[in-house]
Amino acid sequence: MNVVLLGPPGAGKGTQAERLIEKYGLVQVATGDMFRAALSQRTPMGLEAKKYMDSGSLVPDEVVEGLVEERLAGDDVAGGFILDGFPRNAHQAEALDRILSESGRALDLVLNIVVDPEVLVKRLTGRRVCRDCGGNYHMVFGPPEVEGQCSCGGELYQRDDDNEETVRNRLEVYRDQTQPLIDFYRPSGKLVDIDGSRSPDEVFADVASAVDRAGSAGVA
Ligand code: AP5
Ligand code: MG
Ligand code: ZN
Repeated sequence: MNVVLLGPPGAGKGTQAERLIEKYGLVQVATGDMFRAALSQRTPMGLEAKKYMDSGSLVPDEVVEGLVEERLAGDDVAGGFILDGFPRNAHQAEALDRILSESGRALDLVLNIVVDPEVLVKRLTGRRVCRDCGGNYHMVFGPPEVEGQCSCGGELYQRDDDNEETVRNRLEVYRDQTQPLIDFYRPSGKLVDIDGSRSPDEVFADVASAVDRAGSAGVA
């Protein structure tokens, strides 16, 4: 099962990916997480990506596409992947088509998670992330049991791009460049709209039934 999670910043792509990994054993390929990991190791790519991430604009296509192509060649993704945060514009969507067709693969499902922009601003400015396991919390919608601490014991931090100004720019970039991908994927019949405004468990119930339906369609 090869899945794309499409949706604006804060829609809950990472939150739903975590649940998909647990239930279906899929491998998450999250470009934003890969850039943050590269940055924490101070690699040239991580330092380059930071310039774009801090303002909320997109890292250049050739950098992201090269990274994804390399990652999708890994043996561990042969059993299925969840792309979280890629593709983000038409050029990347075409690159993905090429990468998959060259390796005899295809997408099974594109989940379009829909949430109102003002809710997204609240979700992102209140988000806290675990430094150790990457777990996601929210100061109001899902606070940790111990303040500042993940259930794994790791320290919670706020992403540099989760301030209001950068969040608004990320939402604008989404509207201009990523939202048009809904029309790109709709005709394939593989796109399913998910109402992401409900609780994470309610959203996941719909996500899981879309995955199950796509899975049985593939077998038939
Ligand atoms: P990236 O890391 O992908 O960030 P993003 O797309 O802005 O999305 P987020 O991770 O912020 O949101 P999410 O949908 O995962 O939400 P989450 O589950 O965490 O990208 C960052 C940057 O990297 C980009 O700006 C760009 O510069 C660069 N980049 C990455 N990919 C790129 C690409 N392909 N091309 C070019 N550049 C690229 O949830 C958010 C919060 O809400 C959390 O606190 C969570 O607990 C809470 N929450 C989640 N679901 C619910 C719910 N149902 N109800 C209430 N609260 C909820
Ligand atoms: Mg995310
Ligand atoms: Zn943790």
